Amino acid sequence: MKTIRELALAGKRVLLRVDFNVPLDERGKVADRTRIEAALPTIQHLRQQGARVILISHLGRPEGEKLARYSLRPVAEALELLLKHPVRFCDDCVGESVQRAASELRDGELLLLENLRFYKEETENDPTFAQKLAALAEAYVDDAFGCAHRAHASTVGVTKFLSPCAAGLLVEKELSYLGEKISHPERPLSIILGGAKVSDKIGIIQALLDRADKMLIGGAMAYTFSAALGHAVGRSLVEPDKFDVALAAMAKAKQRDICLLLPVDHIVSDSVDCTARTVGTLRTVKENELRERDIAVDIGPKTVALYSQTIANSKTVLWNGPMGIFEITDCAVGTLAIARAAAESPATSIIGGGDSIKAVRESGYASKISFMSTGGGASLEYLEGKILPGIAALDD
Ligand code: 3PG
Repeated sequence: MKTIRELALAGKRVLLRVDFNVPLDERGKVADRTRIEAALPTIQHLRQQGARVILISHLGRPEGEKLARYSLRPVAEALELLLKHPVRFCDDCVGESVQRAASELRDGELLLLENLRFYKEETENDPTFAQKLAALAEAYVDDAFGCAHRAHASTVGVTKFLSPCAAGLLVEKELSYLGEKISHPERPLSIILGGAKVSDKIGIIQALLDRADKMLIGGAMAYTFSAALGHAVGRSLVEPDKFDVALAAMAKAKQRDICLLLPVDHIVSDSVDCTARTVGTLRTVKENELRERDIAVDIGPKTVALYSQTIANSKTVLWNGPMGIFEITDCAVGTLAIARAAAESPATSIIGGGDSIKAVRESGYASKISFMSTGGGASLEYLEGKILPGIAALDD
């Protein structure tokens, strides 16, 4: 894959696809700058080279409607503050005014265009729309790892009309951590998977069982595994139609001598209200000792100790998905403890998935994590071994 390191872009107009799909707060300001910060090395690299940078992104899912609440204008302001350099903003992403603004750019200057998804042609990968985007520049750089699993006009279509097409530094880094460091890991490699449903993680379980030395399961998905083994799970969330997947994973792990760990104790309650974020009285129970009315809401202290020790003894750790109902403070203890263990471990620690990343930030250990992926769906699909269309479309 060609990267921007190989391109001479001085004086060239560069169309830079970034993933500025960031949360906005109730005042319409950027609430989390992670994705903007992640794109800075590429933006700085292009500016230092003297490129004229035209940034394009989507924000949310406005589905072809021009809705003010999905405007990228607040992102231009946030980017300007981070760069300490002016960022021009254009309130459209195609058309005459955009062409004019793009042609007026001087070396090292930046222009952010309005939300691509104000046109339904973007998600439809419409060739005419892609061609209009391509006509703005002389080179294409993709640094939007978070949307690399989307075959849209700005990630795939545009590459048919523009050359060269290269990866930015964030895409390069994401592929290195989620690809190289997991395919050829320093061993032992421990994979920690959590979250509510086995069905969301089938692909990743199957793909990563081939590479892991240890797989640690937490979150509600652990109870589909336990129930498949015939253990008591009370009223915990289970997916009976995924018992076969869970049993097959455990059989494969055994056959390949991979240590697949399930929680050995649990925090349970007899009532949970996820909307009100409240939970009834909490108790700690041993494995297989859940009563009929119990709902598991977090991993217990013995599991925290066991998983933390495993993480401490690993050389590479990949974590995706919370260990309990993380949104409820009292049920976040296990997830925060895993965040801390990953941060304190000497292992290369790689975190994917919004909730796990949030937990790491809240635990205050984010700076000690080797890499936090900016991709949600994209990182999962990449780890599952799927080809990401946005990456496949770039020059070799
Ligand atoms: C994300 O937030 O995962 C990416 O920006 C992709 O957004 P999408 O799921 O709306 O395509």
